[in-house]
Amino acid sequence: MKKSTQRTWGGRFSAGPADAVKAFTESVSFDWRLYPQDIASSIAHAKGLAKVGLLTKAEAAKIARGLRAIEREIKAGKFKWDPACEDVHMNIEAALVRKIGAAGKKLHTARSRNDQVATDIRLWLRGEVMRVLEAIRGLQKSLVALAENNVNVVMPGYTHLQRAQPVLFSHAMLAYAEMFERDHHRFGLSLLSLFRCPLGSGALAGTTLKLDRAYVARQLGLALVTDNSMDAVSDRDFVVAFLSNAAICGMHLSRLAEDIILWSTAEFGFITIGDGYTTGSSLMPQKKNPDVAELVRGKTGRLYGNLLAVLTMMKGLPLTYNRDMQEDKEPLFDSVDTLLASLRVMADMLGHTKVNRARCEAAASDPMLLATDLVDFLVKRGMPFREAHHAVGALVAEAESTRTPLPKLATKKYGAAAGKVFDVQRALAARTAIGAPSPKNVKAQIARWKKLLK
Ligand code: ARG
Repeated sequence: MKKSTQRTWGGRFSAGPADAVKAFTESVSFDWRLYPQDIASSIAHAKGLAKVGLLTKAEAAKIARGLRAIEREIKAGKFKWDPACEDVHMNIEAALVRKIGAAGKKLHTARSRNDQVATDIRLWLRGEVMRVLEAIRGLQKSLVALAENNVNVVMPGYTHLQRAQPVLFSHAMLAYAEMFERDHHRFGLSLLSLFRCPLGSGALAGTTLKLDRAYVARQLGLALVTDNSMDAVSDRDFVVAFLSNAAICGMHLSRLAEDIILWSTAEFGFITIGDGYTTGSSLMPQKKNPDVAELVRGKTGRLYGNLLAVLTMMKGLPLTYNRDMQEDKEPLFDSVDTLLASLRVMADMLGHTKVNRARCEAAASDPMLLATDLVDFLVKRGMPFREAHHAVGALVAEAESTRTPLPKLATKKYGAAAGKVFDVQRALAARTAIGAPSPKNVKAQIARWKKLLK
């Protein structure tokens, strides 16, 4: 047998591809990861072929048995992936033919690798999205636990990284819980587009053979079939959607990482990261570095890059399948791995992080942080807001130039009641609007989160 004819598509070729071409075009070195889905979709396809009489029941059963045996071999690490067989699909099909002979050669009836790979990625991604959803929940649990354990700790809230107004540390943790909730929502919604089965679309134009596509879809737990064969094999918008959601989630993770890095510095000292989640310096013996948080922040780069890579790869493609699309996998796999690892390590690290109440509260004790509350006080007395803002601004300037505490000047100018404004606990308790950080509100929010995350 000539070498070229051994390949599944070798019939029309008189010579096999050059070695460099084999190495350049193969994808099995990374798409082997799709094997559980490839086997599941092949078993479903075989059942479908049997249902419409293109295979006998016995042939379909033999194929299923053969595929399951191959799956066990792969799991046990005994399967030899052959780059000459290009990709995961042809490796498994070739192994099946070796194993069961003639019946194996019928498996690819009414199927193309184009609808096969479109199906496999959807199935694979469905499982990974479920894992991401769980990992987000895990991180939210850590955030809420940290909030609950430090519910009354006051710290300065920042805008422009300048101390702005006092807030509760717990409120800041719940701010991140909210961001990750929206990520959870986006990932959850993205599942919808993964519940359509492309099998039966063929290479691009379906098949002349009669199929029962809905039956095949049901075998895979998919509710619907795709409605247009050309669309089914040629779009990867669901990959882009995942990468986009991962990029947004990575942006949130990176901001959380940045706050952790900042708050754990000697300058801030608000938190202490557990030793197990920090690393030392090879030169400076005293160093304890927040490398885990830094890597989470740094890995955001690839989450963005992977999104751009696939968007760019797809943008000029004519209908329908083009080999460019094989380039969807490495970015997708990398984003899934990176995102899951980042979410999980972040959750663990927060579980090993201590909040330093005294440092937080010392930083929040500057009465200047309650200058806005003095404005509110004057507004309650009937002064128009703009006037009050100006008056307090002038008082702040006076406090700075005469080095007099603001509360003292406020008492002198507006009476004892104005001085009382500078009690942080009172100031927080007064922030009762929905979403504001009164301890009562935050406790109610923690209770809501705990219910949601149960
Ligand atoms: N390995 C290929 C990919 O991931 C499978 C589809 C190949 N189809 C083809 N007509 N060459 O895109």
